[in-house]
Amino acid sequence: MADSSVTITHDGTGKSVQLPTREGTAGTPVIDIGSLNKSFGHFTLDPGFVATASCESKITYLDGSAGLLQYRGYPIEQLAEQCDYLEVCYLLLNGELPNGDQKSEFDHIIRTHTMIHESLRGFFDGFHYDAHPMAMMTGVIGSLSAFYHDSLDINDPGQRMITAQRIIAKLPTIAAAAYKHSVGQPFMYPRNDLSYTGNLLHMMYAVPAADYEVDPIAEKALDVLFTLHADHEQNASTSTVRLAGSSGTNPFGAIAAGTACLWGPAHGGANEAVLRMLDEIGDVSRIDKYIAKAKDKNDSFRLMGFGHRVYKNFDPRARIIKKIAHEVLATYGNDPRMELAMKLEEIALVDEYFVERSLYPNVDFYSGIIYRALGIPLEMLTVMFAIGRSVGWISHWQEMVSGKMRIGRPRQLYTGEVQRDVPAIKKR
Ligand code: ACO
Repeated sequence: MADSSVTITHDGTGKSVQLPTREGTAGTPVIDIGSLNKSFGHFTLDPGFVATASCESKITYLDGSAGLLQYRGYPIEQLAEQCDYLEVCYLLLNGELPNGDQKSEFDHIIRTHTMIHESLRGFFDGFHYDAHPMAMMTGVIGSLSAFYHDSLDINDPGQRMITAQRIIAKLPTIAAAAYKHSVGQPFMYPRNDLSYTGNLLHMMYAVPAADYEVDPIAEKALDVLFTLHADHEQNASTSTVRLAGSSGTNPFGAIAAGTACLWGPAHGGANEAVLRMLDEIGDVSRIDKYIAKAKDKNDSFRLMGFGHRVYKNFDPRARIIKKIAHEVLATYGNDPRMELAMKLEEIALVDEYFVERSLYPNVDFYSGIIYRALGIPLEMLTVMFAIGRSVGWISHWQEMVSGKMRIGRPRQLYTGEVQRDVPAIKKR
């Protein structure tokens, strides 16, 4: 369909302005309001970006009402079934799936960039023993910029790609180091012969005193979870990476900002919050009480893992994850939280409050149960999310930096005091 325009007219002054509309290749068209202030004397107000596209992007498309998620046009279901996580990383970064040779080369590059500088490893000794791993992740990821000076020129496409590869390759090493620090065990160096997720499991669970064998079921489950978390267009943490990166700051700093954003319970911290909630509910008999709390506007309790800004029908990732949860639990033993989660889902899905507001389980509702079954501690769940999402962050940063970049600078509706004179201190 050809691009067209809309005209808005001010009821009071009768002043009109014509604004161009633009169609993407899929999804809701947009009204380009770039000239609105100049020609009409108004900004738009949209707290939480509920109706505002912040950029143009070719990476990920999702349709919340149809439950669609596609990376570079490929449906998430097919990618989760037919590709491994590193192929998905290649796809997100480069726009196309790798052929056999490209896949081998990319695998090799990632596997051989997994070590971190020894001085950086020493940073972990400075953290308190009970530091949250996400706190360590945020600090250490930002610190990468103090080590890898040779890839900080954001205008050099070659250096940008090296940075992207370093982010993808080194995040599991940083995550495992954070875990080892929190349990007081020695750091395990990465092994280039292992797969991406096999290596992560090795660095987390191997100890120098004993042999460790990677379990292929855990290796595969993590790989699929990372694929499901790899990107989700302009979510809060990705938008944070873009906004931070728009100032021209170094990519490690921008990714550290995204990591900090992800930690919040309304975003990536939800998987940890879901498990804490299931533990608090404790038993199927107490579900009704918690459903009532979630519906009570005077109670701050929310059903964690339920609801999504964009998905108003179902979250396609949640369906895939529920299936993996059953497969993993069949091997690792059942978790009473799974039964509780399924019952909670069943009750909420027919409850008028949740139906009216289109609140469905999101990606985080079942992911925590899988991670816990694999022995990954509660505090590490958001860290797992960060590893998977790192490729999305860096792909969006790449896309922004390689295009026409402009610093992000939102406007505001000022509702504070109007100009007044400073009174003398004894008159205040
Ligand atoms: N439990 C109870 N009520 C809810 C929930 C919930 N989990 N989520 C939304 N609602 C209600 C709101 O109170 C609101 O009700 P109202 O219309 O009567 O005021 C209505 O549903 C709309 O909710 P909003 O907060 O306006 O929706 P928004 O799009 O801003 O928030 C969010 C989406 C943050 C995901 C929200 O649903 C939520 O807090 N969910 C729980 C946390 C969670 O699972 N986060 C993970 C998101 S997925 C991800 O980041 C990977």
